[in-house]
Amino acid sequence: MLRRRERAVDIMALTLLLLLMLVTLSSASHFYGGVVTFTAKGLGSTGNYEVEVRSKATFHGCQYQYFSCYSGNCGYNYQLDAGIIDSSSNGPVTASSWCQTETVTNKLLSTNTPFKTRADSCCWIYYSSYSYSPSWSVLASIDIGLRSDTNQPNNSPDIAIVPFLRVPQNCPRTYNLMTFDPDGDVVRCRYGHFAAAECYDCRTHHGFSLNEAECTLQFQSASQGIYEFELVVEDFPQQSITLRYSDGSFVFQVDPPVSSCTEGLYLPKLVSPTPMDGEIIPVQVGKELDITVKAEAQYSTVDQIILTGPLNISKHHTTAGEFHLRWTPIPANNGLYFPICFAVEVKHGSSVHQSEMRCVLVNVTDELVNTVVTCLESSMIVEVEKATLPPLHYDHLRLSDPSNTVCSLQTHSNSTHVVAIIPLNACGTDIEEDDDDLLFKNEITTVDDPTAIITRRHQVEIKFFCQYAKRGNVSLSFSAHRENVTVWDKGFGTFTYVFEIFPDSQFVSRIDPRSYPLEYDVGQRIYMEIQAMTTVNNTEMFVESCSAAPYDNPNYHSPYLLIQNGCIKDPTLVVHQSQARLYAFSIEAFKFIGLHDQVYIGCSVLMCEAGNPNTRCSHGCLPSGAHRRRREAAIETGVHYVSQGPVKLRNSERDGAGLALNLNMNLVFIAGCALATVGMICGLIFYKSRKSTMRYQPLPLQES
Ligand SMILES: *[C@@H]1O[C@H](CO)[C@@H](O)[C@H](O)[C@H]1NC(C)=O
Ligand SMILES: *[C@@H]1O[C@H](CO)[C@@H](O)[C@H](O)[C@H]1NC(C)=O
Ligand SMILES: *[C@@H]1O[C@H](CO)[C@@H](O)[C@H](O)[C@H]1NC(C)=O
Ligand SMILES: *[C@@H]1O[C@H](CO)[C@@H](O)[C@H](O)[C@H]1NC(C)=O
Ligand SMILES: *[C@@H]1O[C@H](CO)[C@@H](O)[C@H](O)[C@H]1NC(C)=O
Ligand SMILES: *[C@@H]1O[C@H](CO)[C@@H](O)[C@H](O)[C@H]1NC(C)=O
Repeated sequence: MLRRRERAVDIMALTLLLLLMLVTLSSASHFYGGVVTFTAKGLGSTGNYEVEVRSKATFHGCQYQYFSCYSGNCGYNYQLDAGIIDSSSNGPVTASSWCQTETVTNKLLSTNTPFKTRADSCCWIYYSSYSYSPSWSVLASIDIGLRSDTNQPNNSPDIAIVPFLRVPQNCPRTYNLMTFDPDGDVVRCRYGHFAAAECYDCRTHHGFSLNEAECTLQFQSASQGIYEFELVVEDFPQQSITLRYSDGSFVFQVDPPVSSCTEGLYLPKLVSPTPMDGEIIPVQVGKELDITVKAEAQYSTVDQIILTGPLNISKHHTTAGEFHLRWTPIPANNGLYFPICFAVEVKHGSSVHQSEMRCVLVNVTDELVNTVVTCLESSMIVEVEKATLPPLHYDHLRLSDPSNTVCSLQTHSNSTHVVAIIPLNACGTDIEEDDDDLLFKNEITTVDDPTAIITRRHQVEIKFFCQYAKRGNVSLSFSAHRENVTVWDKGFGTFTYVFEIFPDSQFVSRIDPRSYPLEYDVGQRIYMEIQAMTTVNNTEMFVESCSAAPYDNPNYHSPYLLIQNGCIKDPTLVVHQSQARLYAFSIEAFKFIGLHDQVYIGCSVLMCEAGNPNTRCSHGCLPSGAHRRRREAAIETGVHYVSQGPVKLRNSERDGAGLALNLNMNLVFIAGCALATVGMICGLIFYKSRKSTMRYQPLPLQES
């Protein structure tokens, strides 16, 4: 009796998501493939069953799949959300472009009996191996009956694949199909069976092999052209209940051969900090996920990133050449998993090459830590409620670079909150720029041993950023004179750098801080002096580098170099005085300023034990890249950033040749954008415990 009841439940639990292809003859060819998954949400407050159905579809243009009820009671769609995930003009020759959309439907059902919905139309994109384009049909067979093992509703496995795959004919490659089962079942992949109506054409292709247990598709070699795949992803529960499956279809293009298959030459190579394939990334509701992807190819030009992921994911290309994928989960995403897959495309002449595909799985959890980020014109404020953090030593928390005394987390914190006020130009704050925005990023992490220089993993990692729209109004208040920089360094104690601009080569009295931003004519000299104030006598200061940049941040990617590795780079630079702890120099107000609305002069300086021949200070000018300092704490300090400005070209100059440039809104500085700022915590991560056996290992600069 018991057995029979169980079996009845099993049949009810049968879940089917499948895709059928029906052949019709037509000239229109626009379908690239699709994937359907669903999540049972249980009984809602109204006493109805809820299920969320996500269907991703890729077409020649941006189109949505419309499902209609095929059999059973398909319930009522009470919420519909749809949008474009990604699009590209690097499609196959026969269709040129593609666009992937996602439709999220929430269904209310009065019973949990099985039903089927279907979307169908003509046609697949044209395959060179066919003389026609078949029609397509996506049939989702949904059953949210309770599983006999967990007593919970069924969930489909999550599957994802980038919208369009391509590989040169002579380059074997293996694709890991992202498969994850939220119920912890074993997932397998196979080709669809005609008898089960899982496919229409049901071809397997020579030159490709599918590893069913690992869900990998291996390309060995095949003639040029487009190949379609209709796969079924099944999950096998540990106990003997029914299996459920979802399926996905996609096209794969085999391109003409390349002269070398080595990644990093013609084909792009994904490099650090790109996440590894299969990584699980935790993210909290309301906190932004930010995935950095970087690719290199010596003989090709990096063109774009293509991706698939949840609705509202966005991609950004920074001026430094990195890609960022960003997504912020909403409360409805809590407890769910979302696969994100990406590949980078490069161009070499008229050829397009794709990198390997990587997929990560995002694990959305509820908001755990109470945090507030406030973005001001030249600083960001982060407040973290201590009660919502795991137990830890608050004096072990630090910003990326804590050497500047304004970066201390002790100064503003109180008994209930960790409070950091972080200048945009200090504490290791990183800068990232794309066409629309500037992002300033930093993080609060724990150090077990505060003297350790590199720790691989932190107990807590709170990443945050302030985003400023570049198209804001310029406000003068941002153009303030920079104050003294006070730092603390082991063995050298607390000391202060004073960086000032002077009216002439006498270096007697600095220019009044109230007259900033300073205006210069092209050719006029800018007189600057850096001085280190310390009570420790036996020390000397070294100016390792100086540059001019439109943003006051040491990490700007392409500054104009004045001094590099202790060597003078700007031909107009004159050193007026160089004493133990004083450096006075001047440069001509240069054309570089004209490219920007205004620039800052920033220098990296350090202190050394005077007279010691083994310090960086006594080595002076070193050829670029010749010397990677291994810091010896006792004889020299870390590198500190000091800056002054802004300086700009006088209006009369700008009214002439510079006018068009200066009207370019891209160049308008971020000031006054307080209204347009977004402050966010992103990538909040806890590591429950540190492995005590963790060995010290330098972080790899490049993945091999
Ligand atoms: C997408 O973003 C819009 C606007 O911010 C929001 O209303 C919607 O709920 C989001 N949809 C999903 C599925 O995240
Ligand atoms: C997802 O996050 C939850 C909560 O932090 C955790 O319990 C679970 O193990 C994570 N899932 C995976 C697959 O890592
Ligand atoms: C601590 O600082 C936070 C944030 O500035 C503030 O909201 C809170 O009231 C302060 N708590 C105490 C006890 O002073
Ligand atoms: C810029 O300033 C003008 C005038 O003060 C104001 O009307 C406009 O709304 C501002 N624009 C933005 C984006 O703040
Ligand atoms: C900066 O340092 C100089 C030299 O020690 C000092 O005279 C000046 O008052 C300092 N400025 C501020 C704002 O503390
Ligand atoms: C540093 O030198 C000055 C003058 O030479 C002297 O007055 C002072 O005592 C010295 N300070 C230390 C800490 O040695």
